[in-house]
Amino acid sequence: MNRREFIEKSALAAGGVLLSASGAKAGNSQAKGEQAGSEQAKTEQANSANAADNKDSKKDMKVLLINGSPRPKGNTSIALAEVAKQLEKNGIESETVWVGNKAVRGCIACNKCKEKPGACVFNDDVCNSISAKFAECDALIVGSPVYWGQPNGAVLSVIQRAFYSNGGAIAGKPAAAIAVCRRGGATATFEALNMPFQMMNMPVVTSQYWNIVYGREAGQAALDKEGMQTMRTLANNMAWMLKATEGKPAPGRGEEPWEPMHFIR
Ligand SMILES: Cc1cc2nc3c(=O)[nH]c(=O)nc-3n(C[C@H](O)[C@H](O)[C@H](O)COP(=O)(O)O)c2cc1C
Repeated sequence: MNRREFIEKSALAAGGVLLSASGAKAGNSQAKGEQAGSEQAKTEQANSANAADNKDSKKDMKVLLINGSPRPKGNTSIALAEVAKQLEKNGIESETVWVGNKAVRGCIACNKCKEKPGACVFNDDVCNSISAKFAECDALIVGSPVYWGQPNGAVLSVIQRAFYSNGGAIAGKPAAAIAVCRRGGATATFEALNMPFQMMNMPVVTSQYWNIVYGREAGQAALDKEGMQTMRTLANNMAWMLKATEGKPAPGRGEEPWEPMHFIR
């Protein structure tokens, strides 16, 4: 499927929802039900068209999904599972890794990883086992619950150390962030998670809304219909990006040799 066909299909799915939103205002509940049915039908039609396009394609591309919540079966896991399911429909494999609920160290700027790149000097938490998967994946998606208007501390520590010590293995690969919250701080969290991608030549993959899912108690995210839809579109867009670039990372396409300059003279 080319880009134009892809956008047309996406617009078909999204447009169904937009139309129904305005239609629902005027309609009675039966009309709303019928509208919802036809939206669903349109979305399923678009999704099965995607799946049909991919039925012959080999699953030779893989997305690494990082669950940054200490709750293994919480709302972040639901958001990531929706992405994984939709990637699968697009013929793309995924692997989900969990930051866990054990202690994770922060970066201490010892720069030992500059002497011996590839791993953090601390080998007593999940950081190195996660960053070891960078080389074998074609793209990265990091999901985090919102804590105090920010990403969870553990996932930030893992990303900061993993990118510092083994960033070369993930540089240039498409990436996306997902923020999961009860009510507030999602966009700040989303932006914070996107920051490392944007200085690592990683094309940031978007959706039809910011990648935000709402829920408080574990399981509630599944009830956020728009959030789940945002996850599916994110997966569709990630699949498109990977196929468009044939999984080749960006470095070498545009990056110049680094000319570092700071402002202390
Ligand atoms: C320490 C802590 C701080 C939190 N801070 C926020 C917050 O700032 N904004 C918000 O909307 N939700 C906040 N929450 C709620 C979580 O983001 C929400 O329950 C989310 O669904 C958790 O995702 P999980 O189930 O994947 O762990 C906080 C939860 C905890 C435990």
